[in-house]
Amino acid sequence: MKHTMPELPYAPEALAPKMSRETLDYHYGKHLQTYVDNLNRLIPGTPYEEMPLDEIVRRTDGAIFNNAAQTWNHTFFFRMLTPSQCAMPEKLAEKLSAAFGSVEAFKDQFTKAAVGLFGSGWVWLAADREGKLSIVAKTNAGNPMTDGLRPLLTVDVWEHAYYIDYRNRRADFVAAWWNLVDWQKVADRAIPRRYKCTACDYVYDPAKGDPETGIAPGTPFEEIPDDWTCPICGLYKEAFRRVEE
Ligand SMILES: [Fe+2]
Repeated sequence: MKHTMPELPYAPEALAPKMSRETLDYHYGKHLQTYVDNLNRLIPGTPYEEMPLDEIVRRTDGAIFNNAAQTWNHTFFFRMLTPSQCAMPEKLAEKLSAAFGSVEAFKDQFTKAAVGLFGSGWVWLAADREGKLSIVAKTNAGNPMTDGLRPLLTVDVWEHAYYIDYRNRRADFVAAWWNLVDWQKVADRAIPRRYKCTACDYVYDPAKGDPETGIAPGTPFEEIPDDWTCPICGLYKEAFRRVEE
């Protein structure tokens, strides 16, 4: 399987001045492209050749892990940014407050972890199978999926993420980055939604999963493999619609 560059949900100049076009040109256009190219060069003829990217991240180490995880991490990072930030959805604010005391306390702890991480790495908000939230700091290409956790948000604190716009001032980069976070996407991941089959009205509840078809409790609908089919009528995932609550 050839891995490809993710499309950005905004124009490359849209995040300026918090994140400049030049940073996007280098960070997305050159650094991420290199990880994708390296991964595609490393996996032919290995057991990972046809494996989905997240499985490669969970199962490998060494050069394949580094390039697969950097591809996954950057794809996730860039897709969670937006030039038009909305207010944080209330349910997400409640969940963060329950876990960390308040939204401000969460942001303080996350910022401390991001600014304080020694060397290159990533800081994550992640959830376990029961939905319990934690802040996880990982060096180099680290990703909390290798600990069985589900990523909800990340910031890249490699120097290449901020040196063009902020030189050595990582704290200024992190402060600006908070204003680019797409809170709706974080909420969609943090609060998994129910989905209904439009043909037979079967409802997929992420809290229950669907163990009979191999989907563990706690699996968000978005993370069910694309070849999964409705356990009642056999239609594919695209026949499902989100249940508005
Ligand atoms: Fe990066």
